[in-house]
Amino acid sequence: MKFLSILGSTGSIGRSTLQVVEALRERFAVAGLSAGRNVEHLTDQVQRFRPEVVSVADEKAAKELEGRLASMDRRARPTILHGTEGAVAVATHPRAQTVISGLSGGLGLVPTYRGIEAGKDIALANKETLVMAGAIMTDLARRKGVHLLPVDSEHNAILQCLQGVSRDQVKRFILTASGGPFLKTPVEELENVSPEEALAHPTWKMGKKITIDSATLMNKGLEVIEASWLFGASPDEIHILIHPQSIVHSLVEMVDGSVMAQMGITDMRLAIQYALTYPERLETRLPPLSLSRVRQLEFYEPDLAKFPCIHLAYEALRIGGTMPAVLNAADEVAVSAFVDEKIRFTDIPRVVRRVMQNHQALQLFDLETLLEVDTRARQQAAEMIQHQFASVF
Ligand SMILES: NC(=O)c1ccc[n+]([C@@H]2O[C@H](COP(=O)([O-])OP(=O)(O)OC[C@H]3O[C@@H](n4cnc5c(N)ncnc54)[C@H](OP(=O)(O)O)[C@@H]3O)[C@@H](O)[C@H]2O)c1
Repeated sequence: MKFLSILGSTGSIGRSTLQVVEALRERFAVAGLSAGRNVEHLTDQVQRFRPEVVSVADEKAAKELEGRLASMDRRARPTILHGTEGAVAVATHPRAQTVISGLSGGLGLVPTYRGIEAGKDIALANKETLVMAGAIMTDLARRKGVHLLPVDSEHNAILQCLQGVSRDQVKRFILTASGGPFLKTPVEELENVSPEEALAHPTWKMGKKITIDSATLMNKGLEVIEASWLFGASPDEIHILIHPQSIVHSLVEMVDGSVMAQMGITDMRLAIQYALTYPERLETRLPPLSLSRVRQLEFYEPDLAKFPCIHLAYEALRIGGTMPAVLNAADEVAVSAFVDEKIRFTDIPRVVRRVMQNHQALQLFDLETLLEVDTRARQQAAEMIQHQFASVF
């Protein structure tokens, strides 16, 4: 039996992970769950999976959870914690062997770091962790001998394509992107798109932050940075292809010109299960992929002028050091301002670019310095939004 701790258990990744656990009860059990404020759903998860420790965003949510679990048998009731320290306790719980890092955004960084430090294997969905601190995370993982297994479907696909392949046989990594809801929207109309339109992803159902990032294609940019750390690839070795059907999850081009692709239905449980059972493959009850139903697989080069976030992410990766963390921090603040209707969709890359221009990247830094840089970049982005992008709605 493998014990898991799930960070972000009430989110899209967390819920899919628990469905995988439910389907493979004879293999997996839950040691800890960490969530934010959806106490109602967390209560249900606690009753079904009986973790030993749970954590929520703050004291108020912890009190509410305590109340909801009061009728549970005292011996089955978990320890209830909150805040970053609570999430860290979940990630480092002695029973947990693997941590599913499924918090959204920079929130995931510290608990994931502490999980690696405690020697836990990491099934990584929270790409922001590697975007912000790829050098620190991969170095710590190497020293601790833990596996960093990608859950992101593109990186999980590459991991699958790389089985039996050595790094020197690979020429390029090709990440596919659905293109998001605005693939066919004329560039001059992007300025006026609403958060509702941006949140209507054509192929995947995900949390808000990643859905908006998919609409700006910043998500693909973040994935380029994630891939560079996971697979030791330079920016020139990572390519993006728009693939609206989201059936080919990514590809690896070999030095002899052969291209390996991994295909599957658009369901994150496939990638999550592979990360949890790696290198084994187990049956699932998911519907099979029917290529004859899909019929058409299309691929295009991305329109870099229409989606400037891709260029910003490559630039941050080339500059390196603390710049990707600044890109990520500014993006998180800008995405949240767009969802709150404080800025336009097209202001997101503008905010990110300006915050990056104000930052002199440090090449040598520790986690503490990185967190300071992250806080400063968030403050700058927030001030910029308030003063330079006054409400447009
Ligand atoms: N969804 C996907 O299909 C997908 C695919 C590939 C990669 N990813 C990556 O996986 C990560 C998670 O994405 P998601 O779509 O699952 O996000 P999501 O649905 O928004 O879930 C976020 C999780 O974080 C929790 N959370 C939010 N604020 C918190 C706080 N202050 N303290 C503690 N917990 C907090 C939420 O709890 P409450 O809901 O209880 O507030 C929820 O459990 C992201 O990094 C994303 O890029 C996701």
